[in-house]
Amino acid sequence: MQNTDWEGRYQSRDMPWEKGEPSPGLVDFLAAHPELARTPVLVPGCGTGHDVRAWAKAGFPVIGYDIAPSAIDLCREKTRELGLTAAFVPGDFLADPPTQPFDWVFEHTLFCAIDPGRREEHVQAVIRWLKPGGQYLAVNYLIPDTEGPPFGTTREEQIERYSPHFDLVEEWVPRSYENRTGLERMFWWKRKEP
Ligand SMILES: C[S@@+](CC[C@H](N)C(=O)[O-])C[C@H]1O[C@@H](n2cnc3c(N)ncnc32)[C@H](O)[C@@H]1O
Repeated sequence: MQNTDWEGRYQSRDMPWEKGEPSPGLVDFLAAHPELARTPVLVPGCGTGHDVRAWAKAGFPVIGYDIAPSAIDLCREKTRELGLTAAFVPGDFLADPPTQPFDWVFEHTLFCAIDPGRREEHVQAVIRWLKPGGQYLAVNYLIPDTEGPPFGTTREEQIERYSPHFDLVEEWVPRSYENRTGLERMFWWKRKEP
């Protein structure tokens, strides 16, 4: 299978995942948890940065990371326009060494975007970028599609892949974009101490 040309998709503006707003599930999570310490967050596969800006608005120091330099340009432009503070870095989340240890990794439509044969690399990357005891918050797309991206996953797969390395804090069905209602599930994980 050929890997997706993400940079080409941004250059040709072929971005059907672009919703113009952050994940509703993330917005609700942040509103429901004002008690959380404002510690560093990484948003890998951040696209044009809506979720990064949601974390920034809630007061978290946050870095958006994306393999497509054109996505990073769009992130910086939009964030500047809105007068928010967030950093954006181009890079490969699956392959790169962490730029710093993070307290949070937030996943939204990166897992479903990568080739299913690389899913173990995703698990290992989340572990690598997080501090021990760090938290992994995911909005997973539970669709049956095998011809992607997006490639579907199941609740069972998420539990099987992440529970050896993470304790599950909570899982729920979030509020979603209109065309994804009932198709998403959020998982809040805490990385196990070594
Ligand atoms: C389906 S889009 C979702 C973007 C954003 N999360 C959203 O929901 O709008 C997947 C994103 O992951 C990025 N991406 C794919 N593979 C990546 C990798 N290995 N490292 C970092 N970003 C990656 C793509 O460039 C793209 O922006």
